[in-house]
Order: sequence, then structure tokens, then C-alpha cells
Amino acid sequence: MCGIIGIISSKEVSSRIVNSLKKLEYRGYDSAGIATLVDGNINEVKCEGRVDVLEKDISKFNLKGDIGIGHVRWATHGKPSKINAHPHSSEQVSVVHNGIIENSTILKKILEKKGYVFKSQTDTEVIAHLVTDYLKKNSIKNTIIKVLKKLHGSFALGIIFKDQNDLMVGAKRGSPLAVGYGPNENYIGSDSYALKSMTNKISYLEDGEFCILKKDQIEFFDTDGSHINKKVMNLSKNEIDYDKGHYKYFMEKEIDEQPSTINDCINEYIDKYNNQVNIFNFPWKSSSIRSVMLIGCGTAFHSCLIAKYWMEQSTNLDVNIDIASEFRYRKVRFKKDCLYIFVSQSGETADTYAALDLCKKNKMKTCAVVNVVESSIARNADLVLPIHCGQEIGVASTKAFMGQMLVLYILSLKVSFDQKSITKKEYKYKLKNLLKLSNSAKKTLNVDQKILNIAKVFAEAKGSMFLGRGYSFPIALEGALKLKELAYVHAEGYPAGEMKHGPLALIENGMPVVVLAPRDEHYKKTISNMQEVIARGAKVLLITNKNKDEITSENIWEKIEVDNLDEDLIPFLMTIPLQKLAFYSALKKGYDIDKPRNLAKSVTVE
Ligand code: G6P
Repeated sequence: MCGIIGIISSKEVSSRIVNSLKKLEYRGYDSAGIATLVDGNINEVKCEGRVDVLEKDISKFNLKGDIGIGHVRWATHGKPSKINAHPHSSEQVSVVHNGIIENSTILKKILEKKGYVFKSQTDTEVIAHLVTDYLKKNSIKNTIIKVLKKLHGSFALGIIFKDQNDLMVGAKRGSPLAVGYGPNENYIGSDSYALKSMTNKISYLEDGEFCILKKDQIEFFDTDGSHINKKVMNLSKNEIDYDKGHYKYFMEKEIDEQPSTINDCINEYIDKYNNQVNIFNFPWKSSSIRSVMLIGCGTAFHSCLIAKYWMEQSTNLDVNIDIASEFRYRKVRFKKDCLYIFVSQSGETADTYAALDLCKKNKMKTCAVVNVVESSIARNADLVLPIHCGQEIGVASTKAFMGQMLVLYILSLKVSFDQKSITKKEYKYKLKNLLKLSNSAKKTLNVDQKILNIAKVFAEAKGSMFLGRGYSFPIALEGALKLKELAYVHAEGYPAGEMKHGPLALIENGMPVVVLAPRDEHYKKTISNMQEVIARGAKVLLITNKNKDEITSENIWEKIEVDNLDEDLIPFLMTIPLQKLAFYSALKKGYDIDKPRNLAKSVTVE
């Protein structure tokens, strides 16, 4: 993962680098660092921990310089420490890197034989020494061409050079790199948000490309060093909402924003006047699509899983799903009549992007369901369906999950209508019901008091289970993932019907178990599974929808009822108490809710 930033200017850069690093912290937050060029010499400040710590250190050193690079790290090679923090410098250059150099061990041995001394355990340090080595006999441009060819794996790089007071290099393969144009200054950054306070004029490097930045000029090159022209994009000037408002945590705010996320998304995709789905840019005839493959990672994968249930239910499509890191290495039989859908909040997840790239190379039809519309995945897919939920900052995804589910649900309605696999009446009925979702989501948010008590038990538990059937199974997986991510409690999401094939052995007295049992076709069977875990001592939190038929078990520990909407829509509502459960469990333990340990928001390494 990691975030990188570089500024080349005629004004001091360190405070602006720090500000951009704060915006990039979602990519990694175990260490941070900065290097600037002062009188031709490279000065570095690095620290273990957050950008706040770096900021304090920089103020002690009074770091000057008009050219600089900065980095926030998510450790891959070498533990999080000051020595492993980027930038990594030789006597000649300083480098920031996002990605993994897969042949770093071999390169390191070669460089060590030549007398280069390594200080860190990182893969990145080889780049600094390799560049230094090539610089002995080559120009900067030729050095970069040769070095990039030597590196295996993925990278976005920012490099500054001793004694080069008006020059910075950016390069990309696999990991994203945006290039920004400013007034008598220029920038590189892992994303456009990091640059947004300085410019809205952006280009993106493509794989294999590099650029040489000066204050008043940027030159772009392909792998062999031939000049290329780049399109300059004008991004919207809207500043990102980094304000927590009256909330203490972004996650808390993002959970509460979900009713408006739902509204915004519905307003984009549903024509309320004509009561129809508004996806007019669909580039294929629906008759040309017979199957769908949904691909994502983490929470995004869970939205793929629930979409499989919806699409199988209402369309004639053959629907498959895969985790991106598996898909990209399987021997996939590509099908011309398949639509490959990539779901990603950030649009930068390395595995999801690689899976998209594979499909593009095989000339498949591709669609991206993303939040960040300027992202690599969005820029490369044939069709982009944004989820319109605004910047999500909490590392554990909440409102983006809601948006992903909603877009996929709406897409499945559109396809089922186009294919005539549901009647016009059913289609209109489902769309009308969807308009009730935001209001019911708002009501579901009012569970804090109840969840607070429940969370005390989950927070202290050795382990927990989340069970559901049908549409509720993906939500059980997501509920368990949220608890693991935030409260560091072992949580298993399981199809309720699978319990007796092994996991039931884990149930012991007092173990908290969430049972998701909406009043659908699975209800009775799930309730039987619930009785089986209660009989073995589990403390059950039952989440269901309001219904006149009371549930007749005295042994349920706690019960939460959501609104009684159409059964397709209950999963949206059941998600909310589970997000709050994870939130309050983490709060109880005093953990860092927006930045859980070992994780990062945008996973740009394999
Ligand atoms: C990370 C985040 C998760 C997210 C996953 C996929 O692991 O912490 O919240 O679900 O990446 O990210 P994407 O941006 O592709 O949705």
C-alpha cells in the first residue's frame, strides 16, 4: 500500500508535503517520512507512527527545501520502524515507493557485492542504490529507463537527486501515480485527493511510464524513453469533506451518513418520475450478456456475494463470483457473453485492478462499481457505475458497502427488466419499495443504546459467530469481518446450515452468536439452527424484521428488529446494527476505530 507525494516548487514544501501525507494516511499509517533538497543536499526526517509525529519532528529540525518527497508506509518488507520508513536514500538520491520489488533479494546481493551498504530491511532501498549505480555512467533519463527494466513487481516511485535543484522523477508500474500541474510548481501523488488542495489539473501515469518534473515543465516517457503526450484532466474543485462534524470518529459519521448515501445513489440511478432505472450508458445489448462474474476483495467481495443472490433470483444470468487475488491467478475460461464486474471502493486495490487488466487483455466486457471515479479501475473499465457515497475515510468500509450493494441491486433490476425475467409490474413494485429504504435505514440507526450493552459481551469474547442463510449469509460474513477488523475479536461468518458440519464444535457456554433471520423462505430453518446453538450455551443476538408473528423462544439473549420491507432489502437494514456492534466493541476496548492495527484503506500491493 503506502502513499507517496512529491512537490517541486520555488517555495518551501515541507508543510504542504505533511498536509498531503495526512490525506494519504488511509493508505498506510505505521511510519512516515520526508526528504527535501537543501543547497543540493538531501535532508531526511523519518519516524515510526503517524504523520502527526512526523510533523512534530519536522518542526524540531526546521526542515527547509523547495523540492521534496514524502511517504506514509504500510509495512511489507521489514517491520514498521524509523529505519524502514521511507524515503530511502543513498548519497546521490532519495526514493519513496509504493508497491513491492519482487526481485529485491537478488538485486541486493548484486549491489552488496559492488560495495553498497544497506541500512534497512526494505525492498525499496535497492532502488536507491541501483539508481546511484546507473547514474555513474548514464544520464538521469537513461538511468531511469535502465533501472525500471531491472525491477520486477509493482511500484509507484518518487525520486529526487542530490545537486539537481530543479528535477524530480515519478514512475509507475502496477501502483497508481497521479501527476499534478501547479502555478510554477508541479506534483506527484498516489491519488488526486492528496494534490487537490494544490491543483485540480491532473494526469495519470500508465504502467511502464515515467515522468521528469521541473517547476515549470513535465515531460512524460514510455518504457523505452520515447516522449508521450498526456491528457490533462480538470477535476471538480469540491474539497473533500475531511471534517468529522460533531462526531469523534469518521466511521461513526460514515455509518450515520448511510440514509443519505442511499438517497444520493437512488437519485442518480432511479428516474422517480417514470419509475425506471436510469443506466443509459450501458454499452452492450442485454441479449449479448448471458453470464456475470463479480470480483472484489474484502467488504467489496461481500457485496459481490449478495449480488449473486439477487441476480440469480431475478435475472436469467449465470452468476459467478470470485475474490480478486484468486481470480487473477486461476486459469480462467474467458467467455465473450460474460460481463466482468469489478467492485472496489477505492478503485485502486491491486488485485482487483490486476483482475480487470487480465479481462481487458482478453478483450472481455468490463464494468467497474467504484466510489473513486478518478481511480485506476474506473479509468480502465468499459462501463463505470459510481456508488456516489462521497469520500470514505474510516479504514473499515461501511457506507461504501451500502453503496456497492445498492448499485448492484439496481443493476440486477435493470438486467431483469431488460431480459424480461421479471414482469413490468414486479419491476415497478421493486423500484417503488426501494424508495422506502433510506427512511428505514434512518430508523435502524437508532439502536445505539441496545448495541452498547451487547457490544460489552462481544468485546470481551474469545470468539463469536455470525450466521445467516440466503441473502443474510453475505451480511453475516460482513458482520464478522467488521468485528475482526475493528475489535480484534475472532469472528466467523457462516451459512447457518453449515454449522453442524464442524463449527458447532466451537460453541461453548456464553459464546456470543449473531443470528440473522429475516422472515423469508429460510426463516424457519434459520430459527432451528439458532435453537441448536442456544442448546449448546450460545448467547444469541437475533436480528430479524418486524412481524406480527412473535418469535417463541425464551432463550434468545437479545433481539433487534428492523423494518419490514421487501425481503430483497432487509440485508441493507441488517448491515447497520452489525456495523454499530463492531464500532461499539472497538470503542469499549479503546482501539483506534478509524485506523485499525495492521490494516490500510487502499491495498495497492498483492
Ligand atoms: C481493504 C479495506 C477494506 C476493503 C478492501 C477492498 O482491506 O480495509 O475495507 O473492503 O480493502 O478495498 P476496495 O477499495 O477495493 O473496496
